[in-house]
Amino acid sequence: MPTLKQLAVESLTHLVEGGQERVAVDDEARGILRQWMLDARKAPAPMSAQPSQQSEPQEMSVEEKLAYLRERAASWKPAKLLGTLRETMVFAVGNPRARLMLVGEAPGYEEERQGEPFVGPAGQLLTRILGAMGLQRSDVYISNVCKFRPSMGENQGTANRPPSPEELAACLPLIMAEIRAIQPACIVCLGGSSAKGLLGAQQGVGALRGHWFECQGVPVRVTYHPSYLLRNEALSARRALWEDMLAVMQQLGMPISEKQQNYFR
Ligand code: URA
Repeated sequence: MPTLKQLAVESLTHLVEGGQERVAVDDEARGILRQWMLDARKAPAPMSAQPSQQSEPQEMSVEEKLAYLRERAASWKPAKLLGTLRETMVFAVGNPRARLMLVGEAPGYEEERQGEPFVGPAGQLLTRILGAMGLQRSDVYISNVCKFRPSMGENQGTANRPPSPEELAACLPLIMAEIRAIQPACIVCLGGSSAKGLLGAQQGVGALRGHWFECQGVPVRVTYHPSYLLRNEALSARRALWEDMLAVMQQLGMPISEKQQNYFR
């Protein structure tokens, strides 16, 4: 099991290699990092952070940046070191030049099998929601905060579980880099894990939805995960998600018909 220090060094190394120069840390983290620095000065043998040979070239197209990130993600050390995520990496799908980016939790059984996010039952519902907005999957960019299906041991079968805070933290640099590459006009967090990852939010979706947040300068709306709607067919839940999507459409300057305005009323 890797130490917290090894995980932190891996994550920070990858951020630096990806061109990031600043990270936000709270006072507690700053204190811990400072102590590690002092310790490292005392014991000069550096920890093996195993940086890769290449760093992200600055003059890349968005497609090239995503191809680079996809390759990095497949052998993403901070995730691999945890030993609690499954092997197969599921990256993202959709339009690299999309104005709308949707971020879910983690691949499930079907996503892992097909190697594409949101293709199982929740994904099919997401495709229908996008259709109601007048969009196709190929119009938007769909990704997850966690790129690997969380493991539940040998007899996992088709069962899935949400990623732990450690698993979210390990994968976070990847989705953050995707956001910088895509530069969408708006992000939708699908479910609480996504909001926890992108916004550091501790509240549930019920408390977060209905407001605008920001991630790396991009407006973010939080809404229910489609799988929640599959479990809870109450009209109020469907209406709530649809209201969130109407707010997103408005933010993007998309036309909203009277019929769309009145769905689930
Ligand atoms: N749920 C998610 O959050 N992401 C997927 O890709 C599939 C289901």
